[in-house]
This record gives sequence, structure tokens and C-alpha cells, in this order.
Amino acid sequence: MSAFNLQQGIGKIGANVWVLPLCNGKERLKDEKGKKVHSTQKSIELLKRVILTSTNEGDLILDPIAGTGRTGYVAKALKRNFVMIEINPKYVEWIKKRFEKPLKIIDKPQVNERKIQQYLNLGNKP
Ligand SMILES: C[S@@+](CC[C@H](N)C(=O)[O-])C[C@H]1O[C@@H](n2cnc3c(N)ncnc32)[C@H](O)[C@@H]1O
Repeated sequence: MSAFNLQQGIGKIGANVWVLPLCNGKERLKDEKGKKVHSTQKSIELLKRVILTSTNEGDLILDPIAGTGRTGYVAKALKRNFVMIEINPKYVEWIKKRFEKPLKIIDKPQVNERKIQQYLNLGNKP
């Protein structure tokens, strides 16, 4: 437990453990039949943290396996440049669709206190 500095850092942007919810709700891209567009879509909050902690405004970010384009989508909102590569044309169409609605970033990190508590309780089991 102490190696991860859970109590002090968990959930905060500078921490070495981030407990974030899976990509769900409105953020999860679904097709017209309600099926998930991409099986491994990750949350915007996760990418926001990765970008904020590892780049500066104006930097160039490469995602060579773009999926549904979350990297570029978040990068743009955070004033970073980006290059994305995606082999599947279906996902490329979803990337284009996604960019029609620019993302607004809320500066404050989104932290789910209930999930953090669950995580801490798991760690405390013998
Ligand atoms: C794990 S997903 C992408 C995750 C995405 N980067 C994210 O952060 O959510 C991997 C993607 O890589 C794409 N892919 C696989 N091989 C590729 C290749 N040779 N060139 C470009 N994209 C590729 C797949 O179609 C898939 O959408």
C-alpha cells in the first residue's frame, strides 16, 4: 500500500495511483443499435490527466492506434497539436463525428470518491 502512496495521492492529478471509472454514460460512444462502438474506449478524464502531466500547450502528441480518437479530441481541447493513425475506417468515421462537437475541459480533476473508497477497502483486505 505505501508504495503507491494511496492515502495522500489517490485520485489527484499528481498522484501515482489514479482510480477512475470506466468509460460509461454519455461519454461512451454507441452506434444506432445502442452497441458500444469500440470495445476498449477509455475515459476522457484519464487522457486529460496523461496529457496534462506529460505535455505543455503547443506540444505535438502522436497516437498511432487512435481507436475512436479520444487522444486527439482531448489534446485539442487542451491546446496541444496531435497526429492520429487508425487502420479501421469505421473508427475513422467515428473520429470525424466526434470532432464535430468540440470538447470542453473542466479543469478540476473528476474524482469519484465512492470508487476511491472501494479501492482502498480492497487494498486493506488481508
Ligand atoms: C486499444 S485501441 C485504441 C485505443 C486508443 N488509442 C485510446 O486511447 O482509447 C487500438 C486501435 O488500434 C487500431 N490499430 C491496430 N493496428 C493498427 C495499425 N497497424 N495502424 C493503425 N491502427 C491500428 C485498432 O483498429 C484499434 O482501434
